[in-house]
Amino acid sequence: MSANPPTRRITTATLAKMALQRQPITMLTAYDYPTAAILDQAGIDCLLVGDSLSMVVQGRETTLPVTLDQMIYHAEMVGRAAQRAFVVVDLPFPEGQLSLQRTLRAGARILQETTCHAVKLEGGSEQADRIAALANAGIPVMAHVGLRPQSVHQAGGYRVQRDAERLINDATVAQQAGAFAVLIECVAAPITAQITQTLTVPTIGIGSGPDVSGQVLVTHDLLGLTAGHVPKFAKAYANLRQTITSAVQQFGQEVRNGQYPGQEHSF
Ligand code: KIV
Repeated sequence: MSANPPTRRITTATLAKMALQRQPITMLTAYDYPTAAILDQAGIDCLLVGDSLSMVVQGRETTLPVTLDQMIYHAEMVGRAAQRAFVVVDLPFPEGQLSLQRTLRAGARILQETTCHAVKLEGGSEQADRIAALANAGIPVMAHVGLRPQSVHQAGGYRVQRDAERLINDATVAQQAGAFAVLIECVAAPITAQITQTLTVPTIGIGSGPDVSGQVLVTHDLLGLTAGHVPKFAKAYANLRQTITSAVQQFGQEVRNGQYPGQEHSF
């Protein structure tokens, strides 16, 4: 196992090799140019322009409202910032639920109008035809099994997934259909381990335990920027909410008491 992450552009082949060699894959969400550039330069292997953009950036209740045009607007910036990372873009609701033609067109727009490299599609066995159509069109697809936020209303909430037979079947069928990787969200850890053992393509986990080829988190959770509920699995490595609050409070105070701008900030 090599301790150093690859230095050249990450591709689906790199990810497959990393998984094979048990070299952990790192993945984080990004929605804008400066953040994507920081994550890329920090050595994160994959960036995800997630439809979590709807909640994290747009302040919506669910991932459902974000549109394809909005995803493309953000993906274009992230793709341009990423020099090394492999960039995956979510197919937002309902682009992966309506006709096959519509899913293909959405995937093609993402690859044509941004410099990103792949799409992510929520669903497992029932999405086999769409995964195959995208892959056959040369559009790399990451399948997303387990908890599927786009189906939150049908599922009645965000819950840990424990139906081992269905989950293993979903992941296996997605791989057979041509998915280059499978993202596993909020699945009980022993089931995730079974999925990773069963598949030959990389597995990327979120809230699904350690037995995966890689881990993904929402960057705002990792940085401590999220207000309100943060899921149990989301480890905060910083408290940027506090840092930003202190900085802007200090600015406010210095403007009010005439301390800013000083001579050194004036012409
Ligand atoms: O949209 C998103 O952020 C996701 C998570 C699984 C990371 O899909």
